[in-house]
Amino acid sequence: MEIVLIKNAMLVNEGEIVQKDLLIHGELIHKIADFIDPKLADNVIDARGLHLMPGWIDDQVHFREPGLTHKATIASESRAAVAGGITSFFEMPNTNPQTTSSEALAEKFEIASKNSIANYSFLFGGTNDNLKDIISIDKSKIPGFKLFLGSSTGNMLVDDPEVLREIFSNIDLPIAVHCEDEVTIKENLSRFIAEYGDDIPIGKHPEIRSEKACYLSSSRAIELAKETGARLHVFHLSTAIETELFENDIPLKEKKITAEVCVHHLWFSEEDYEEKGTLIKWNPAIKKKTDREALWKALNDDRIDVLATDHAPHTLEEKQQVYTKAPSGGPLVQHALPAMLTAVKHGKIKFEKFVQKACHNPAILFNIEKRGFLKEGYFADLVLVDLEKINTVIKSDLLYQCQWSPFEGTTFEASVEKTFVNGNMVYDQGKIIENGLGKRLTFHNS
Ligand code: DOR
Repeated sequence: MEIVLIKNAMLVNEGEIVQKDLLIHGELIHKIADFIDPKLADNVIDARGLHLMPGWIDDQVHFREPGLTHKATIASESRAAVAGGITSFFEMPNTNPQTTSSEALAEKFEIASKNSIANYSFLFGGTNDNLKDIISIDKSKIPGFKLFLGSSTGNMLVDDPEVLREIFSNIDLPIAVHCEDEVTIKENLSRFIAEYGDDIPIGKHPEIRSEKACYLSSSRAIELAKETGARLHVFHLSTAIETELFENDIPLKEKKITAEVCVHHLWFSEEDYEEKGTLIKWNPAIKKKTDREALWKALNDDRIDVLATDHAPHTLEEKQQVYTKAPSGGPLVQHALPAMLTAVKHGKIKFEKFVQKACHNPAILFNIEKRGFLKEGYFADLVLVDLEKINTVIKSDLLYQCQWSPFEGTTFEASVEKTFVNGNMVYDQGKIIENGLGKRLTFHNS
C-alpha cells in the first residue's frame, strides 16, 4: 500500500478554503491536518500554490458504449474525464442496447469494470413498456433512473401518462428527467421546416426547442412528483422561467425535488450560434443571455443543486450535417472544470460553492458511499488545480475519441494539474497515467 502525502495545498471543502496537509493510505484519505510529517509517506507532493478539491462527480454523461462506439467509448471518455478532474460519473441509458433491462445494465458494468479509469455507475432507463424491469431492478446497484420526457438522441421518449404515473408512484430512488415537451417541439419544427426545409439556421434551435417546451415539461413533471411523492431530479435546466419552479429554503437532504444545470448552459448563449454553429446544438438548446444569468443566480442561491456536463459526443462529420440531421450534444468532460474555475476567477461563483455543486451535492443527493468530500476514511478521489496557469484548448490535446471540442481556441484561466482516483494518480500535467482502474460506485440505498 503506497502512502502519499500532499503538502501545503489549499483544501477546498465544505464551504472552506484552508491550507492543510492530506495523507493518502492506499485508496483512502487517511489523515487531514495542519501538519503531517513527510517521514510518514513514501511519496511527498509539494502542492504549495495549488488548490485541492474532491473529484467532480458528474451525474450526467453519455459515453456511448455499448453500440455507439464510433462516437466514443467508456475507455476514451473516462480518460478525458480524469484529465478534467471528473473522478466519478453516471452514464446515461441511451446506448444500444438501451439500459432498460437488468441484462443491459450488467453488460455496462462489465464493460466499465474492464475499461473505466474513473469510478462509474449507470442510470437505469425507463420507457413506455419496461415498468416490470424498473420495479424489479436491484435498487442497491444504481443511483437512480433516467426518463426522457422529451425525445433526444436514442429514441427513449416516455410519453404515456399512465406509465409515468406508475413509475413515479413506485420508485423511491431519484428519477432524473430530461424535460422538453414533445408536442411543442414537433409543432415548432414543422413550422420551420415549412419555411427552410432541412437547412434551418442553427440560430432557430432555441425557438424550436423552446422555453415553452422546457417549462411545460418540467412543470408537469414537478406536479406529478408532488402528487406521487416521487424523488425528482430535473436535468439540465436551460431557462430562467424553470428556475422559479425550485426551492431553496430546505437543506438538500430534505428536498424531494432537485435540479441540475450543465456547464454549456452556463457558458454559451444564443449569441454563440453564429460562430459555433451546430457544434453547440444541444437538447435542451442554449438560450438567451438572460436565461444564462438566471441559471447562474439559481445555482448560487441553491435553487439549483447540482452541476454536471451532459457530456454527449458525436463525430464531427455527424455534427456538421444540416440542422435537421446534425445530432444534439457535444464533448465536455475534459474542459468543464477549467471552464468553471475560469468562472470562479471571474466572480460568477465562489470556489467553495462550485465544489458543493459538483462534488458534495451529487454524493448527498444520490447517497453515494464515501465520496464527494475531503474527509478521513473517504476514498482519495482528489484534484489538484492551478488557478494561475492559463491554458488554451487545442485539438492535439483532446482525449475525446471524437477529436473536437466546442471550446477549441478558448483560453481558460486555470488548469488541472493532477487527478487521483481511489488514491491512484491517474493524470499528471497533460498525461494519463495507467495506474489502475476506477471502481463501481456504491450507494446507501436499501
Ligand atoms: O444534447 C443532448 N445530447 N441532449 C440529450 O439529452 C442527449 C444527448 C445525446 O445523447 O446525444
